[in-house]
Order: sequence, then structure tokens, then C-alpha cells
Amino acid sequence: MNKTKKKILIFMGPPGSGKGTQTDMLAERLKIPAISTGELLRLEMKNNTKIGKAIRKTMDSGRMVADETVKEITEKRLAEPDTKKGFILDGYPRHKKQIKDLEEIFQKLHQEEKDISVFYIYVSSQESRKRLGKRRVCYSCGSTYHLEINPPKKKNICDACGHKIERRKDDEPKAVSRRLRNFHSENDPLLDHFSARKILFRINGEQDIKKVQKDILADLKKTPS
Ligand code: AP5
Ligand code: MG
Repeated sequence: MNKTKKKILIFMGPPGSGKGTQTDMLAERLKIPAISTGELLRLEMKNNTKIGKAIRKTMDSGRMVADETVKEITEKRLAEPDTKKGFILDGYPRHKKQIKDLEEIFQKLHQEEKDISVFYIYVSSQESRKRLGKRRVCYSCGSTYHLEINPPKKKNICDACGHKIERRKDDEPKAVSRRLRNFHSENDPLLDHFSARKILFRINGEQDIKKVQKDILADLKKTPS
């Protein structure tokens, strides 16, 4: 019998490469949830939970949050029923230890057969800095804007929920530099790992948003359906 496997898409890429932008579009199209560990962590901060209070300084300064914390919130999210048919991960795993953590989560929660594909969206550090300088977010509903490419209809007001939009704390230049350093020090071993498993697709992120999505969809067609 030809049983449909669970579709799991993992998105990697430097800060500002467009992971959130692309995974949100893809989630809508594929009708599976996009799960960003960055968003999950920001939600903890917004709700002022114990985790939220503990990670605020780390997040705002652009440092990596402890593996156990990220594993805990990811596991909790992947236990939700909407992940049953598949899901998209944005920003997890970020280094080799987290690959192991994710495998452990799968052992517990998603033991069925899976089709896993990894998309690496690459952009230069210069492009990351340029984009993040113009990014604004709504801390209330999570919507993301770019002051030139995708501005809100009303200045500084979120189209989706009417709250004020602001600069992400970790989009200050010093925090961006740290995030870029973190990313580049961990990225190559991850790429080697997924490339060796022949599940890695490299996507040029320095094209307009629709073209990037088109390239992702073209590669997605090459994966088992
Ligand atoms: P996270 O929120 O995931 O941050 P990031 O990985 O640095 O990525 P960003 O969200 O900044 O960028 P993006 O690629 O999503 O780009 P976007 O689509 O918004 O993580 C934040 C923090 O959480 C980490 O620093 C760490 O502290 C912690 N954390 C998260 N995961 C963790 C983990 N696994 N382990 C430990 N700690 C973890 O686009 C950016 C801007 O560009 C937007 O304004 C957008 O409109 C615009 N844009 C998008 N695409 C294009 C395009 N093609 N052309 C022009 N502009 C574009
Ligand atoms: Mg993001």
C-alpha cells in the first residue's frame, strides 16, 4: 500500500534571509503550519512566562537561547494536532546538537514515515543588514513589514491588528552582527549534514519575494509527494 508520508520542511538561512516571509506563504499554500522557534520564544516573552522572563536579555542582545529551552518549546508546539499532516520549521535546528534534539522529539511525537526536505535561503551579510534595518514587526500579532518593500497601509500601524509596529530589539546593529556571527559559525556543519543526506536545496534569497517562493516551489516538486 502506498502510504502518504508526513511532509516536514526545514528552513535555514541567515537573519533577514526571508525565512519567516517564505514559510508563512508556503504554510498558506500547503495548509500545514509554519513554526518559527524565534516566534515561539517571542511569544513566551510577550506572555511574560517563566521562560519569557529568563530569555529576554539573551534574545534582545542577539545571543542563542539554551538548547534545552528551545527543545522544550518546540516539543510542546509539535505536540499540537495541527502538525499531524506535516509542518514547516523556521530556524530549528540551528546547530548539530539541535539535530539530535529534533530527532528525539520525532522519536516521541512523530514516529511515522517522514519526507524531510531542507531549504537553505542564502543572502549576503550586507543584504541581511540592509533588510533588518528596515524591518518593523507587530509584537501583538507577529506580522512583519519592510518600510519600503512591504510597508503598512497606515504609518507605523499594523494592518492585521491595528497595534503599533516597531523595530525588533535584536535588529539593532550590534545584535544583528552577533546573530550573523552565530549563524556563520554554526551553518557549514549543518549544511554538510543535510547535503550528505541528499535532502538539501539551496535557494537564492536575493531575488524578489515572489521569485524566491517560485524557486522553493520548483524544488519542492522534486521531493516525493
Ligand atoms: P529568529 O526570529 O528566527 O531570527 P533569525 O533567524 O535571525 O531570522 P529573522 O527572523 O531575523 O529573519 P527571517 O529570515 O525570518 O527574515 P524575514 O522573513 O523576517 O530568531 C531570533 C532569536 O531567537 C535568535 O537570535 C535566538 O536568540 C533565538 N532562537 C531562535 N531559534 C533558536 C534556536 N533554534 N536555538 C537557539 N536560539 C534560537 O525578512 C526580513 C525582512 O526582509 C522583512 O522586513 C521582510 O519583509 C524583508 N524581506 C523578506 N524577503 C525579502 C526579499 N526577497 N527581498 C527583500 N526584502 C525581503
Ligand atoms: Mg523570522
